[in-house]
Amino acid sequence: MKIQLNLSKLDQIKAGVIVVPVYEGDFSIAENSGIEIIKSFLKENAKFGKLYETQLLFDPQQKYFLVGAGKKDEFDYEKAQNLGGTVVRSLIDRTKEIAYFIQPEIIEPTALGVELAAHDPSQLYRTDKEKPVLEIVQLIIDKNTKESQDALKKGIVLADAINIARMLGDMPANEMTPTYFLNVVKKVTKENKLKLTILDEKQAKKKGMGAFTGVAQGSDEPSYMIALEYKGDIRAKDKWGFVGKGITFDSGGVSIKPSDSMHEMKYDMSGAAVVLATLQASARLKLKANLVGIMAVTENLPGGKAQRPGDIVKTYSGKTAEVLNTDAEGRLVLADALTFAQRDFKVTKIVDLATLTGAIIVALGDLRAGVFTNNNDFANELIKAGEKIGEKYWLFPMDQEYGEMIKSDFADIANIGHGSQGSRAAGSITGAKFLEAVIEDDRPWIHLDIAGTAWDTKPKPYRGAGATGFGVKTLIELIS
Ligand code: BES
Ligand code: ZN
Ligand code: ZN
Repeated sequence: MKIQLNLSKLDQIKAGVIVVPVYEGDFSIAENSGIEIIKSFLKENAKFGKLYETQLLFDPQQKYFLVGAGKKDEFDYEKAQNLGGTVVRSLIDRTKEIAYFIQPEIIEPTALGVELAAHDPSQLYRTDKEKPVLEIVQLIIDKNTKESQDALKKGIVLADAINIARMLGDMPANEMTPTYFLNVVKKVTKENKLKLTILDEKQAKKKGMGAFTGVAQGSDEPSYMIALEYKGDIRAKDKWGFVGKGITFDSGGVSIKPSDSMHEMKYDMSGAAVVLATLQASARLKLKANLVGIMAVTENLPGGKAQRPGDIVKTYSGKTAEVLNTDAEGRLVLADALTFAQRDFKVTKIVDLATLTGAIIVALGDLRAGVFTNNNDFANELIKAGEKIGEKYWLFPMDQEYGEMIKSDFADIANIGHGSQGSRAAGSITGAKFLEAVIEDDRPWIHLDIAGTAWDTKPKPYRGAGATGFGVKTLIELIS
């Protein structure tokens, strides 16, 4: 599918379907169009315009499609994006060409939403899939400037990156193994002149990453600790570290999960996928920043060599950890990845992303991601960046007392907490506390628990169900 900008007047366009957005209670755009069939429809349907509401209108010469944009004063980046998605999801099987009438200010989110909707993961593995009919989306604007072209490019770059993250999250774990993930990393490395460092299991073990290899040893698939570097600013003294949990399948290990929704654990590598996507987008946008992305990629399986509850491992940081529950594997692999970022790559500030706890879904559902930090100013910067582009967060407390909950009887720390309800008490915070234990010199660090936001259980009008790529937009906005 192609997407392009077009300078034109609404009454001069010819396309399979012409799309006109309609704000609730403000029909000025539609009325100024001078198109009779739209005017008369709105006269009879004065309440039209609710968010993502749609209506197809047939004129003998031309089809029109109205899409509700909601209240004008509530319209923002996220709604513009989702409106673009709604248009494409509604029309993808109906017409070859869309002409979509928009304001030049929303080119970026519109292009992004259009491209996200064009990628429908529910079709990937069907043998009876039909080719989408839609070939071209024209964004009709009234002035075309250099900024317009840049906005279009940025929207497409963001969409390509997010779509890679979505694809990796949606792919089944029999295909999307750690080796498959690594091959995608290699491809992104080559295409964008990035620098790649790979530790296989043997090398990671030799280096002292006992927490990572303790998880990896339960699976026969090879595992990898991956570092990907982007240098976009030789003068900068800051170096960002983005660290992602990359469990390509989380069975729970010996502390095995119930089977009801175990199949969803194929998206337990979403953090690593977002890190990869962010590096790709940063390089393609030529952002002025230095970045390193660390991806800890392995399965969590209960094989014959799997670690047992009660095992004690030595993390790369030097601290020992008691593995009281093999299903709390994310914090184990991340701990070593965080130390890798700090010691080997000397990052000055860190954001980690992980589908870390079911407890974050209990607290926030799939609307907001949990934020945990040792530096509130840094965290608020990230939350604000997210607000601007429509990714929502919630800051959690990190009192020192929560740290007491991960004390171990036999090692420096335990990988699950203990409180009034066992490991369920403050489950997401104790996970974050485990990670904080390996942060050195108080360097600014944020942990994002994306277990809820990384996955949509139900399809939306603007995007199919499945992996969402949540986090990429925020990180790009934060770096910019
Ligand atoms: N990958 C899971 C967390 C998860 C749950 C992600 C649901 C997405 C949806 C993680 O590895 C895990 O199993 N966490 C445990 C921690 C517990 C044993 C302390 C959990 O949340 O139950
Ligand atoms: Zn787990
Ligand atoms: Zn997990």
